[in-house]
Amino acid sequence: MLRRVLLYLSEAGWAKAVVTKMGAARRVALRFVAGESLDDALRASRELNEKGLLVTLDYLGESVNRAEDTQAVVATYTSLIEQIASQKVRAGVSLKLTHLGLDIAEDLCITNLRTVLTSAQEHDIPATVDMESSHYTDDTLRIVRTMRYEYGFTNLQTVIQSYLRRSEDDMRALASEGASIRLVKGAYLENPKIAFPEKSDVDANFVKLAEIFLGADDADTGDGDSDESTFLAIASHDENMIAAALAFIEKNNVPSHRYEFQMLYGIRTARQAELVQGGHAMRVYVPFGSSWYAYFMRRLAERPANLTFFLRSLFRR
Ligand code: FDA
Repeated sequence: MLRRVLLYLSEAGWAKAVVTKMGAARRVALRFVAGESLDDALRASRELNEKGLLVTLDYLGESVNRAEDTQAVVATYTSLIEQIASQKVRAGVSLKLTHLGLDIAEDLCITNLRTVLTSAQEHDIPATVDMESSHYTDDTLRIVRTMRYEYGFTNLQTVIQSYLRRSEDDMRALASEGASIRLVKGAYLENPKIAFPEKSDVDANFVKLAEIFLGADDADTGDGDSDESTFLAIASHDENMIAAALAFIEKNNVPSHRYEFQMLYGIRTARQAELVQGGHAMRVYVPFGSSWYAYFMRRLAERPANLTFFLRSLFRR
């Protein structure tokens, strides 16, 4: 119930106006965000690289509704990509299609996305199109396939959410295409008709989808062509999900070029380091920018302890 209220508030303009005015909210939000500037983000990324962690950088923002505002988003991403390359930061980028104008016009979004992906490809930097609410699932998968197969952006990943009932079919199709996928549980408010309402079902589906994908190729013999084999980013802080993936990887000798773990900036940092020490690739999702409200509210919805911490900080001086 609390999760649903917080997810509702994450999309409510009036709540955004109230919360973003609170100094305490900004302070707590910055626990999950690397900072407001591009320099903050690059500094945090270099620090993570020094600990052996890979990074994907997300310029915060979504649901943009003025075409001119998307130009600044494209400019920030291209500048970010150039600086990742020139400073030799081991980082990719994560993008949201509604940040690039999908709510305004698909053509605009595609033009913007192509500009960013062209720059990423020139610098050999991986890009991931994040998955937003189920309203965008079909469009996102279609646009990502167009980018990959028609425009040849091969270093491109997208996201599948285990809470969606449709995801098993999507995963099987994407596995047969040799796609690169980040698997997550899903962070939006969804109707039980299309999304599992029970956490136990979401978790069981996460494990099932990870196994479908990791087992989709000649992982046990190691004779798959790495250009065409699937790649899975196991993106979860849940120890049960991590343990299930590790057990499957070990049992089936899944080679290290076919998977990595991913977690969000500021969450379970000790476990992030442990996975690196265990010889696994670990990528941290590093958000930056001033549009932190929706991202922050989704993080509060995931963990009641974060909400308690936030409420306590409101009463602290
Ligand atoms: P779960 O929520 O069950 O949490 C398990 C445990 O992890 C908790 O008990 C707690 O210990 C810890 N934990 C989880 N969240 C925490 C938090 N906010 N603060 C502190 N501890 C926390 N979603 C989406 O819909 N589209 C997307 O594109 C992405 N992209 C994405 C990238 C990456 C790298 C990650 C890790 C996650 C996403 N997500 C996402 C978010 C995802 O859908 C999901 O909401 C969160 O990862 C929380 O789910 P967990 O799998 O961590 O498990």
